[in-house]
Amino acid sequence: MTALDLNSPVAVVGTGTMGQGIAQVALVAGHPVRLYDTVPGRADAAAEAIGARLDRLVEKDRLAAADRDAARAGLHPAHSLAELADCALVVEAVLEQLEAKQQLFRELEDIVEHDCLLATNTSSLSVTAIGGALRNPGRLVGLHFFNPAPLLPLVEVVSGYASDFSSATRAYETARAWGKTPVACADTPGFIVNRIARPFYAEAFAVYEAQAADPATIDAVLRESGGFRMGAFELTDLIGQDVNESVTHSVWQSFFQDVRFTPSLAQRRLVESGRLGRKTGHGWYDHGADAERPEPHTAEKAQAPAYVVAEGDLGPASELLTLIREAGIQVREDEEDHGTRLVLPSGGQLVLADGQTSVEFRDVVYFDLALDYRRATRLALSASQDTAPQTLSEAVGLFQALGKTVSVIGDAPGMIVARTVARIVDLAHDAVAKGVATEEDIDTAMRLGVNYPLGPFEWSRRLGRSWACSLLDDLHQRDPSGRYAPSLALYRHAYATEKREGTS
Ligand SMILES: NC(=O)c1ccc[n+]([C@@H]2O[C@H](COP(=O)([O-])OP(=O)(O)OC[C@H]3O[C@@H](n4cnc5c(N)ncnc54)[C@H](O)[C@@H]3O)[C@@H](O)[C@H]2O)c1
Repeated sequence: MTALDLNSPVAVVGTGTMGQGIAQVALVAGHPVRLYDTVPGRADAAAEAIGARLDRLVEKDRLAAADRDAARAGLHPAHSLAELADCALVVEAVLEQLEAKQQLFRELEDIVEHDCLLATNTSSLSVTAIGGALRNPGRLVGLHFFNPAPLLPLVEVVSGYASDFSSATRAYETARAWGKTPVACADTPGFIVNRIARPFYAEAFAVYEAQAADPATIDAVLRESGGFRMGAFELTDLIGQDVNESVTHSVWQSFFQDVRFTPSLAQRRLVESGRLGRKTGHGWYDHGADAERPEPHTAEKAQAPAYVVAEGDLGPASELLTLIREAGIQVREDEEDHGTRLVLPSGGQLVLADGQTSVEFRDVVYFDLALDYRRATRLALSASQDTAPQTLSEAVGLFQALGKTVSVIGDAPGMIVARTVARIVDLAHDAVAKGVATEEDIDTAMRLGVNYPLGPFEWSRRLGRSWACSLLDDLHQRDPSGRYAPSLALYRHAYATEKREGTS
């Protein structure tokens, strides 16, 4: 099955933010495009706006003037649905309401040819449910573009229960011919990106709600240790707290209030009070003209220890041993495999976040997971009231000697980056096991859809598959609500890995 012929007209119904973006993509790819909107004048205004955007692309040398002229000549506002009769594809981007979308497709079915492909850009409704209104639901698929559609490459091609394989393939190939990166996914709540990204926000909000760290510190750790482009607080201020919360809410409701997707009470309060982020001048942060951005917590300068004793294998943090040696600090290797920790001269221990809390041990400081310990510029440490001040000071001094800024946070099990990544990895494994998408498509979707530095499976392979499972198991023991319970899929992978490696 091949992509649509570039001479075939494409219709976009609903000419708001997404409709205009999708129309621009189809136009620039070379299709004649018809625009339709129920509000009189809106399709004409959208055609003007798209034309102006094409002009700006020409000014910036990103589009040839001749291509702009051809695109403009191919763009036509329609004043009734009947004018879409000869279109080979209709993409719907009307308001997010099941009845409105069903009604539209029902009307279209009587207008377009039998082989016209129908697509919905819904972000939260079920493609299967929308197709329930059609005589031939086989021709309906989801084509979920991301905003702004002309700039963001990812398109989730969603197959409803009744979608024909040939329709999904044609939509997939067409998206690719339009210069996009399509991924195939099943019709489940949140599709790929909006489902698997939930813990990125939820875990940051949970650490804040547990009073373990403030938004500025959590954001800085997610960026500088986790390698995420933005922290969860600054990102949701950009997206809009109402928009972000409504996606979380919809996924949580659609999964019958699955505790893994429970929305945040702190975010609810923001939304209720109208603190929606940048668009209202205030969200987690103050965005007023004179507002000063709060600084993340940064530990005072401390003395580096003269040596550390490495006991066992540090797993995903093994590179630290090289960095410590490079900083001129002696690493004494303890041949006996006691565990996976660094012992400091004070006798206290430094342990990679593992889902337990420091208060459970005599004298432990936890350090957070980093995407790349060499490149990380900041590292979070956590200690309890029982941790000896000398242990904490040596731990701070050690990481500072490696050139890292240190943030000391409260005794949060699984710290910040580690628990976030473990939950993303878990949801990704669960999604594959439930047939939502392939590992490869999930990695692509998370890198392109939300800019993650690594796809969940790439990350999982780096960490060792049993790492996330064991961290979540520990967290689950401390919070048995089910929020952290590892999925069966993650257990399977963890045990399969252990068996292969002969450790079980
Ligand atoms: N905004 C995003 O970031 C985003 C991203 C991905 C998907 N989506 C989805 O895309 C769709 C559109 O979102 P948007 O942000 O562009 O909305 P929008 O409010 O900017 O635009 C919707 C347009 O649809 C028109 N409309 C409403 N009912 C109609 C009908 N029955 N027939 C024709 N036109 C109709 C409205 O007049 C309006 O111009 C929604 O399903 C949304 O969930 C939005």
